[in-house]
Amino acid sequence: MDPDTAQAEGPSANRQAATLELRNIVKRYPGSDEPAIADLSLEVAAGEICVLVGPSGCGKTTAMRLVNRMIEPTSGDILVNGASIIDRKPSELRREIGYAIQQIGLFPHQTIAENIATVPALLGWDKRRIAERVDELMDLIGLEKAMAKRYPGQLSGGQRQRVGVARALAADPPLMLMDEPFGAIDPINRERLQNEFLRLQGEIRKTIVFVTHDIDEAIKMGDRIAILRKGGVLAQYATPAELLMAPADEFVEDFVGADRALKRLALQRVRDIDLWEAPTVRVGDPVSEARARAAATPIGHALLVDEDNRPVSWLGDGDLIGERVVHHAGGLTKVELDDVLRDALADLLQGKVMYGVVTDHGGRVAGVLSVEVISGFLNHQVAGRIDQAPAPAERLA
Ligand SMILES: Nc1ncnc2c1ncn2[C@@H]1O[C@H](COP(=O)(O)OP(=O)(O)OP(=O)(O)O)[C@@H](O)[C@H]1O
Ligand SMILES: [Mg+2]
Repeated sequence: MDPDTAQAEGPSANRQAATLELRNIVKRYPGSDEPAIADLSLEVAAGEICVLVGPSGCGKTTAMRLVNRMIEPTSGDILVNGASIIDRKPSELRREIGYAIQQIGLFPHQTIAENIATVPALLGWDKRRIAERVDELMDLIGLEKAMAKRYPGQLSGGQRQRVGVARALAADPPLMLMDEPFGAIDPINRERLQNEFLRLQGEIRKTIVFVTHDIDEAIKMGDRIAILRKGGVLAQYATPAELLMAPADEFVEDFVGADRALKRLALQRVRDIDLWEAPTVRVGDPVSEARARAAATPIGHALLVDEDNRPVSWLGDGDLIGERVVHHAGGLTKVELDDVLRDALADLLQGKVMYGVVTDHGGRVAGVLSVEVISGFLNHQVAGRIDQAPAPAERLA
């Protein structure tokens, strides 16, 4: 890279997100008969996460490397913010594009802090600002500050991969390319990083191209998902909800998996669906009234609540005797309005009762969720409603 132009540009935080467009890209590697990418056109809107998924060798990494000109297309054009990158200096372009590569690619003879600071240093940030940014990013990726002094060889594979993500984020680039950035990370840290990343994206709204093999990760992270097949052929480019509701063909259907109805549950929250009204009663209410309430719902039980409308217990026939409702303690399955439907369903299936009491932030009753409610929701979700699924960052609690 060229330090002179870096000086001229100076520090550059909070740049706007860029648009990205691939126009009829063809990439033939020398010596191969089949093109790695036959004819790929794809537009990514500013501030969106576009996830590329597809089988190994379908051209995902090739597509990424074309965008920051690590390799050149055989034909076609790539536009960043509407301007062709063919006329751009590769060194300059790479400072504008954050890149977390598949094989991590940290500099082995530089410390973790120096690795993370690569682009800010090229951009001529002052030492203090760099140090603050490194601290902030170490925190984000969940590594102790003391590790900043180590060398990549002294970290685990997953830790190195997290440093790779921090390095890509360091200069707050308007466009980020992330090639399986969480691939080598254990499920717990992976989920944590995904969530942190989405939270951050909710604030910074960068344009991100994100490669993964994992369809669940794609559904979670993507505003839009591009499913590629061999030769970089675009099988479908759609929102996660569209992809799950209406896969374009058998290839996409196979790729998203037979459980795509269940996967859709990961896109919605309990508050997104029509709940049953809870048949609530309080201590001291007439038993006749409580029985009438219980009978008026498919649940067949009344729900005892305290004076703040917090759930206490289900009351069955055997509990509703005498004149007035008396105190009971019992088992309840509680789910929250903010829970993802998939998790809520898991809770319902594990609980002793088929019904979940839905509570709001204050623990007050907001309704009742049942397996029937969820299955009705899945069956009645029509094509016109699929775009109502919230964006990935909004889906986080
Ligand atoms: N430098 C190269 N020279 C020749 N062929 C290459 C080169 N790099 C990649 N290929 C071929 O191009 C095709 C696409 O490779 P690419 O790395 O883009 O796949 P990918 O989708 O990223 O796969 P994976 O999921 O395994 O990372 C493959 O058939 C690969 O063998
Ligand atoms: Mg790859």
